[in-house]
Amino acid sequence: MLSEKSRPVIAQTIGVVAERIPEITPVFYRSMFEARPDLLDGMFSRANQKNGTQPQALAGSIAMFASHLLHHPDSYPDEVLSRVAHKHASLGLPAEEYPTVHEHLFKAIAADLGDAATPEVVQAWDEVYWLMADALVKLEKGLYAQQANDVMFAPYRVVGKQTVADGVLAFEFEPADGTPMTPAVAGQYVSLQVTVADGLRQPRQFTLVPSDPGHRRIIVREDPQGEVTPVLHRGTVVGDVLEISNPYGDVTLDPDSHGPLVLVSAGIGITPVVAFLDQLVREDPQREVLVLHADRSRAAWPCREQVRDLVSQLPNARLVSWLGAPGEGDHEGRMDVSRMEIPTGAEVFMCGPLEFMQAVRSQLIAAGVPGRAIHYEIFGPDLWMLHDEARTA
Ligand code: HEM
Repeated sequence: MLSEKSRPVIAQTIGVVAERIPEITPVFYRSMFEARPDLLDGMFSRANQKNGTQPQALAGSIAMFASHLLHHPDSYPDEVLSRVAHKHASLGLPAEEYPTVHEHLFKAIAADLGDAATPEVVQAWDEVYWLMADALVKLEKGLYAQQANDVMFAPYRVVGKQTVADGVLAFEFEPADGTPMTPAVAGQYVSLQVTVADGLRQPRQFTLVPSDPGHRRIIVREDPQGEVTPVLHRGTVVGDVLEISNPYGDVTLDPDSHGPLVLVSAGIGITPVVAFLDQLVREDPQREVLVLHADRSRAAWPCREQVRDLVSQLPNARLVSWLGAPGEGDHEGRMDVSRMEIPTGAEVFMCGPLEFMQAVRSQLIAAGVPGRAIHYEIFGPDLWMLHDEARTA
């Protein structure tokens, strides 16, 4: 809980700090990577630094946390903390690095605010930072303790590489040493470290899809402008060994819930849907499930046959598609759920590009689905959560 001393100081300064985040974050990251270039080798994604999403997400989440403490003094924004802790754990973030971020972030805040950064203001924001850091460290330690091993990454050998749609490959891996594997829950992801052109290791997260027992399987769409996916597509062959983390991620099905489900995806966002459907076939085949997918065409739709096959094994499941190519899907063009019958009391899981999910979520809310019943997975830093009352309240 925020101290009585800091509360009014945070209330007075949160507006200016939040407003200055776009100016503060580049300075903070520049100074941190100058002092610690090793953090760009295997931990931070260079691409997310360049496009600015990760710095905004990190600093923005501290302002959001402060705002939560002001409005709900007796609680933490658990959903946001959980998402961040899972992402951190997938990267093997050690608790000892929290002072590193603190040092460079606060140097940047002090430089930006100038005279306004009085000792009182700095102390109050320090308190917010360490409350959040302590909450994250606690969650991350809990996540590490649940693993079947005590390593952050283990070597895995590529044992399969197949095309599953235009420009989309599936990779199957088996352990390359004796490290015990933590079983994954459907919807979880792993971080992969890939050595890119200049020799740096770059991490990326990929959702796990059903695999042979004792294997891991991921689906990768090539981004020709990207740094990592072209290396996987063009430079990685069967027999190669990559470093892969334990499975993390909290966008998973509640094992105690058996009500109707709506699974919404676009493009490569189909991957968690494949994992969920596979789990339902094994564990809850009578579940009422509506699967809604949008894509450019049948050829572009990853794992289309697998999805059809899994849906056909669920007697109460239905698949509806929106495809750009005329005559190829149940509907043409953009997904429009406003005329769909959404089962009462349904839990919704979405995965796809941000604008797609925002549009579908608005349609669902307009159709009467409560915001708290809509869950989503974003591939990349989640900037949506920072402005999403339903998740931060
Ligand atoms: C990701 C917050 C400390 C390294 C993130 C994200 C947030 C965040 C909001 C984005 C999560 C997502 O949606 O994917 C924080 C906060 C911290 C903190 C509030 C302190 C209180 C640290 C520290 C390190 C670190 C100490 C390491 C030195 C990372 C990395 C990512 C990340 C590598 C993923 C980056 C990417 O994919 O581009 N953090 N973080 N964070 N954080 Fe932290």
